[in-house]
Amino acid sequence: MAESFRMISNSDEAPDKKCKCFGKKTLIITGCVFGGFIFALLMADGRIFNRKKYLDAFELDYINDFTDKRSKLISRGILASNSHNTQSWRFIFNANNENIFDMYLNHDRLTPQCDPYSRQITISAGTLIEYLKVAADIQGINLNIQYFPSGEYDQNGTIESIKAHPIARFTISTKAAVTNDLHQYMFKADTTRSNYKAEKIKANEIAHLNTLNNEPTLNLTIVNNDADMNTLHSIVKRAGYIEADVKRVQTEVLHYFRLNEWQKNKYGNGLVFEGSGTTGFMNFLMQGFLTLLPFAMNEDASAKSFKGSIDAIVSNTPHYIIIDSNDNSRLSQVKAGELYSRIILNAHKFGIALQPVSQPLEEYSEMSNEYQNIHSQFTTPGKTIQILARLGYPTKEGALSPRMPVNRLIE
Ligand SMILES: Cc1cc2nc3c(=O)[nH]c(=O)nc-3n(C[C@H](O)[C@H](O)[C@H](O)COP(=O)(O)O)c2cc1C
Repeated sequence: MAESFRMISNSDEAPDKKCKCFGKKTLIITGCVFGGFIFALLMADGRIFNRKKYLDAFELDYINDFTDKRSKLISRGILASNSHNTQSWRFIFNANNENIFDMYLNHDRLTPQCDPYSRQITISAGTLIEYLKVAADIQGINLNIQYFPSGEYDQNGTIESIKAHPIARFTISTKAAVTNDLHQYMFKADTTRSNYKAEKIKANEIAHLNTLNNEPTLNLTIVNNDADMNTLHSIVKRAGYIEADVKRVQTEVLHYFRLNEWQKNKYGNGLVFEGSGTTGFMNFLMQGFLTLLPFAMNEDASAKSFKGSIDAIVSNTPHYIIIDSNDNSRLSQVKAGELYSRIILNAHKFGIALQPVSQPLEEYSEMSNEYQNIHSQFTTPGKTIQILARLGYPTKEGALSPRMPVNRLIE
């Protein structure tokens, strides 16, 4: 009995020891795998190796990196909102006169699939010009702007035409510095993609924003009533889903997507997860994971996530703004961009956020019904809607998006 007990007890002890030993091994292996995984994520994401140089332009003292007055001015202009964050700006400094420089579109960074006539990119030249004006006040620079000094590039936006026609010639001279309380808001994110509160914008704030349109060729509408809001929600939703399912457009979006810190520092432009509100630890996980498994970042995944963001927009937007123009000239597009920047800077004063929702305005065949739809319901024949954006008090402040070093934009 005793023997048999011992035997039983011995035979019982053996697996127990094995079990403890096995448990330790499992723990070590799991630890190694987990540690290896975190290490791989860190390497892939690159944040421990990279200072965020792509955000340098948002530092107040960034201006001190430059001696040339034109570069100092441009170093603030580049903080402007621009479509797909391609920063398709090209500056050519006059070799004989340090007070003159020309601005062109950068034909190497166009987005022909979603913006076949480079209308959005031209608007994005206007957004920058408005920031230059504000910076010029602060820097004591008198900024003379001659728009399209060699005429406008053609309506198709052919590369030859874009190359041959500067958008503006700037001539600078010295003046006494002027305080401009909008300057401080250039250092905030222009675009906020988070949910907006249901609360309507205060009447005095809407009234102030309405005073900002000083261009006779432009019309600014801040949409406030429920019927129009519902119509616009439906258009935005349909147009968003259409864009999501046009594969060549999604491919173009992915081309400008920067997956990790290495890429953000390398390119200094493009779309990033922070821009869509994914920050902190989640941002690290997303960046690391998708860099390790880049095939997960494909057109289908992009379409799905974009549809999700469109659903969130239509459920969390109390107002839209519409900027339309009497003609669709290149000058009107630039002026629309200037007005949009004025609205952004003034909106910041009131804690109001904006996000363009450009899908119904895109000019490719799949979108033509929604393009007609929004034009027939929200403007009169002959006019062109240049900007549709949502507006409201955000639930979360927008995060900064990369900017390229100024010198890479100048020739
Ligand atoms: C003409 C124009 C069209 C834009 N269209 C969209 C859009 O459809 N959806 C969006 O989320 N952001 C849009 N944007 C915002 C840009 O993506 C954004 O400005 C850019 O990523 C830089 O980020 P920031 O504005 O926060 O500096 C647009 C901006 C401009 C000027």
